[in-house]
Amino acid sequence: MDNSSDNSRDSFSSRFAVIAAVAGSAIGLGNIWRFPYVAGENGGGAFLIIYLLFVFAIGIPVMTSEFVIGRAGQKNPYGSFRKLAPGQPWYLIGIMGVAAAFMILAFYTTVSGWTLEYFYQTLTGNLAGKNDSELTLMFDEFLQGSYRPVIWFLVFMGFTGFIILSGVKNGIERYTKMLMPILFVLLIALCIRSVTLEGSMAGLNFLFYPDFSKITPKVILEALGQAFFSLSIGMGTLITYGSYINKSENLGSSAMAVSIADTMIAVIAGVAIFPAVFALGGSPASGTGLVFIVLPGIFQKMPLGQVFQLIFFSLLSVAALTSTISVLEVIVAYLAEELKMTRRKATIAATLMVSVLGIVTVLSMGSLRNFTIAGKNIFGMLEFLTSNIMLPLGGLFIVIFIGWSFSPQRTKDELTNDGKLKAGYLPVYMFIVRFVAPVAIAMVFLYSLGILKL
Ligand code: TRP
Repeated sequence: MDNSSDNSRDSFSSRFAVIAAVAGSAIGLGNIWRFPYVAGENGGGAFLIIYLLFVFAIGIPVMTSEFVIGRAGQKNPYGSFRKLAPGQPWYLIGIMGVAAAFMILAFYTTVSGWTLEYFYQTLTGNLAGKNDSELTLMFDEFLQGSYRPVIWFLVFMGFTGFIILSGVKNGIERYTKMLMPILFVLLIALCIRSVTLEGSMAGLNFLFYPDFSKITPKVILEALGQAFFSLSIGMGTLITYGSYINKSENLGSSAMAVSIADTMIAVIAGVAIFPAVFALGGSPASGTGLVFIVLPGIFQKMPLGQVFQLIFFSLLSVAALTSTISVLEVIVAYLAEELKMTRRKATIAATLMVSVLGIVTVLSMGSLRNFTIAGKNIFGMLEFLTSNIMLPLGGLFIVIFIGWSFSPQRTKDELTNDGKLKAGYLPVYMFIVRFVAPVAIAMVFLYSLGILKL
């Protein structure tokens, strides 16, 4: 057995720290920026129902499986699979995960940079008093300007690298515990303002009233992709975090708690945004700029709006940061453990490599926006490939691994902490990872490719 690295391995200090770190990874731009815009483009209520179904039927079991693999393997995703299944090709999932980490960081940090710009613009008073068409114009000009988004991208990448360099535990944990609750309260305040705007009912209807005629293969694939993206699953982020979870923690209940919190935040963000979209006369399907145009629109109509706006964008940046670090950690753990780099070298190398891809991605929203493949620019391409293809594919293989290849006894040992915990859900969980989840994911793929017709 290779135990050389296990003794010195970092781990989270408490149950609360585990939840905070995993929730920090899961809760981020995926909830507040991506969920509303993807739901808006895919029909609202019907999308929401399918999304919820995927979170509970597939997402939570996949998250649990990632924890099992990570805690049993005690390594990065690639290393964990090598250790748990020597001589078998499962480690390819780990390699796909590292590739996905690069791609996700490139576009995710781009959007994180936008949050810094909006923080800065609030600070300098440039958003105050702007009406909706001015806000739209401003967002567009910012993206076209190209060099500002690049600078903000690099600043954000720098923060991410810096935190990873100094270790996840002490710095970020302390701040997330404090800041995430404030973000939550602020979102609730936004909801209240949003639903009390005149004409807001149409927005609530849009979000909660399912119009099943809007369900298409694309909507289903997007809902699956969004569930994976929002829960941070399918590429080994939570295998990596799982490897830092103590043997005494309850993996199943942690996955459940984090997933419920993550889903609540997404729905609350939807309640903050859609009523305002309709009340202010916008379109729910206005794409990646939705949050950056609609929310400032609401803030202009609130007492002390500028103050709240400042707090909001700073907290959104923090929420994004606790997610970007979890993605960068995958690459760094891989480079450090497999290529035997020091953590410092690995962090610098990973940050620089991501930055190259990231700059191209930033520019694809600006000066390179006319360069498209299949109607998508590079940003859209990376987003589509990772969320809708690579993450669900990773998840598919992860559940197949746990369901059909890994020893059921060892899975049980991980979920019960060697018999110390009751895990009454175990039969249900095993049934899902063996049958339900693999079949469902495969069906969504076949259906969206047009091979399967319902
Ligand atoms: N889940 C995060 C969010 O919703 C983003 C994220 C972090 C992520 N780590 C990930 C997405 C791993 C996919 C895979 O903002």
